[in-house]
Amino acid sequence: MLTAYDFPNAKLLDEAGVDILLVGDSLGMVVLGFPDTTGVTMAHMLHHVAAVARAKPQALIVADLPIHSYDTPDQALANARQLVAAGADAVKLEGGIRQAEKVRTITRDGIPVMGHLGMLPQRVIEEGGYRRKGKTPEQILALQDGAQALVDAGVFAMVFESIVESAARQLTANIAVPTIGIGSGDGSCDGEVAVIHDLLGAYPWFVPPFARPQADVAAATRHAVAAYVARVRKTS
Ligand code: KIV
Repeated sequence: MLTAYDFPNAKLLDEAGVDILLVGDSLGMVVLGFPDTTGVTMAHMLHHVAAVARAKPQALIVADLPIHSYDTPDQALANARQLVAAGADAVKLEGGIRQAEKVRTITRDGIPVMGHLGMLPQRVIEEGGYRRKGKTPEQILALQDGAQALVDAGVFAMVFESIVESAARQLTANIAVPTIGIGSGDGSCDGEVAVIHDLLGAYPWFVPPFARPQADVAAATRHAVAAYVARVRKTS
């Protein structure tokens, strides 16, 4: 799974064979210039989900429900329906036990839901930073309970973000749906997700420690633009 926020990237990623395109609320940071994901709204998400959907990818389109768009089951369902109307095939939300009723309400309506456990970017302000999870037996137990509550409520898969590798491996073995890891070790989950800007080296101002850039789009862009500016200045 890779994130996609616009038409050309959705087409390119799909042509390259990615299984799932995630219109993540990381949109807020790598596209919209917010410091974290807590400034992302439904209006932002709908705009970008529609752009990705216009690429008509083979890949499944999963759209994040942004912060405060799923505070109650009714609100979660209304906003999930809007994301699907904009072109999403499924929605994703953050959290475990306290989200189970919302997951149940959305899936009962026929909309597939992906869970998201471990480090929850939408809680960065409450938690005072990005904290790795699964470091103690108590934390692992809480993750296990959260994962089971999500499975019981009907999620078809879940993201494990920044979970200690051995804990991610143990949890993956214990739960009945596929897990998709980010910052949770190699091969410890059933699949992996990356933010496309991290993979392409397109957001050089913050690179997560676990990122594995396969290109340097930032350097290529600066080089191409500098060459353009130099040519135009010389010839005008
Ligand atoms: O918003 C996002 O891109 C995500 C991934 C980091 C899993 O939720």
